[in-house]
Amino acid sequence: MPAAGADTGPEKAVRTAEGAIPSVALVIPGSPCNISLGLDMSAGRDKTSLPRREVPPKILIQNISCSARVDDMEKSSEVSGFYKKPVEERLRFVQQFAGLTDEEVATLRNTGGLPVGTADKMIENVVGGLTVPMGIGVNFRINGKDVLVPMVIEEPSVVAAASNAAKMARARGGFFAEFSGPVMIAQIQLVDMEDPRNASERILASKNEILELAARQDPVLLQAGGGPRDIEVRMLDTRMGPMVITHLLVDTRDAMGANAVNTMAEAVAPLIERVTGGRVYLRILSNLAVHRLARARAVFDKEAIGGPGVVEGILSAWAFAEADPFRAATHNKGIMNGISSVVLATGNDTRAIEAGAHAYAARNGRYSSLSTYEKDADGNIVASIEVPMAVGIVGGATKTHPVARIALKIMDIKSAAELAQIIACVGLAQNFAALRALATEGIQKGHMGLHARNVATNAGATGDIVDKIAEQMVKEGRVRADRAKELLAEYSR
Ligand code: MEV
Repeated sequence: MPAAGADTGPEKAVRTAEGAIPSVALVIPGSPCNISLGLDMSAGRDKTSLPRREVPPKILIQNISCSARVDDMEKSSEVSGFYKKPVEERLRFVQQFAGLTDEEVATLRNTGGLPVGTADKMIENVVGGLTVPMGIGVNFRINGKDVLVPMVIEEPSVVAAASNAAKMARARGGFFAEFSGPVMIAQIQLVDMEDPRNASERILASKNEILELAARQDPVLLQAGGGPRDIEVRMLDTRMGPMVITHLLVDTRDAMGANAVNTMAEAVAPLIERVTGGRVYLRILSNLAVHRLARARAVFDKEAIGGPGVVEGILSAWAFAEADPFRAATHNKGIMNGISSVVLATGNDTRAIEAGAHAYAARNGRYSSLSTYEKDADGNIVASIEVPMAVGIVGGATKTHPVARIALKIMDIKSAAELAQIIACVGLAQNFAALRALATEGIQKGHMGLHARNVATNAGATGDIVDKIAEQMVKEGRVRADRAKELLAEYSR
């Protein structure tokens, strides 16, 4: 009995074995069910004297198959207290809802280097984890010290490219980095004040009181040498009228500091309302961490990178990004390939860093490159970068995620400042590698090897055959799923 397939049209008759009843697959558009009807042309022939063509065929329902579960109409995603249920119960619910196999559930349940109990405490409604590969960026020499850099990323070629650039930088001593200090900004939004200028002055006049009140919120931070340092006041003209924005500047030491500064902002808000007579709405950190800048610099020897032609190509690629936001977005994305992979490896907040970096790239009113390239007197490339880097090493996932702790250990990180500098160097290395590749052979050649391995794996190849298929596809210039399948069949014979 041929099954009614999704590609079987309403009128398409399906031939059966000789002598069997011919059947018709009936597909009802929009319905998850297919019905197979048999036409019995011989029905009633012995009971009537009518000629055969006038005997109406008997219609037999031969098969009904439904691709969706019958309960599809009834399932609901509304679950009360889902967060309170044990992980196993949540998993069972998702399994039923989505029709997951036991194997799929087991895959979800496998949280790799992060125990599921820990994961369950990190976020809400946990059912599993997704493991992203960690590669090690090699060859990095930063401020005279060799470092191995853990990078967590799903994109092929990134780790190889950063390592390659780091190797080229070694000819001139590697990377040199610095950090402006871990000062975070918390914003307090004031509205409904009578005179914005007067309110600003009153806030500034209350600076000591504000700083003292903020300091009392976090004795641990004070003990570690951090705490509120200063305030800035800005007046804004907005669609909702004038606003006075107070920036509370807090040295958060080795913490990213989001919780610390948010708590302080909330604590000082009533004081600001009292001295101004206005009303406070938002009290929250700013991810545009302009007082928390990491800077990195490297000289790339002109001969080590391929000669003066390559130098010109790289300078031209940078000038393009500097002048054009469309190119700058991609240029900076390449930088973030390096930055975010180390941020993620250390359990830091990739979204905070990405938001800060892109806002910083637009700080002069036009989105532009985060990096700068120039030529020194000998014709070598001098590359540099400056980027906000609000990363920590003591709180949140940096502390709770066992793999993040190992990542910090691999880099021998003792302070958030050190981590911020390494991250800036990796961003610069990534950017240099991309510009060099783009200005010369293009990035596809380098990408293709790894891409081909992915294609081979997706086609079902395992073990040594993956490389064999990948090499063959690259050699032929046909890195495609269909070719990978053909080669897999050939090599598996
Ligand atoms: C790809 O992930 C990153 C690049 O596009 C960066 C760039 O164009 O500079 C290669």
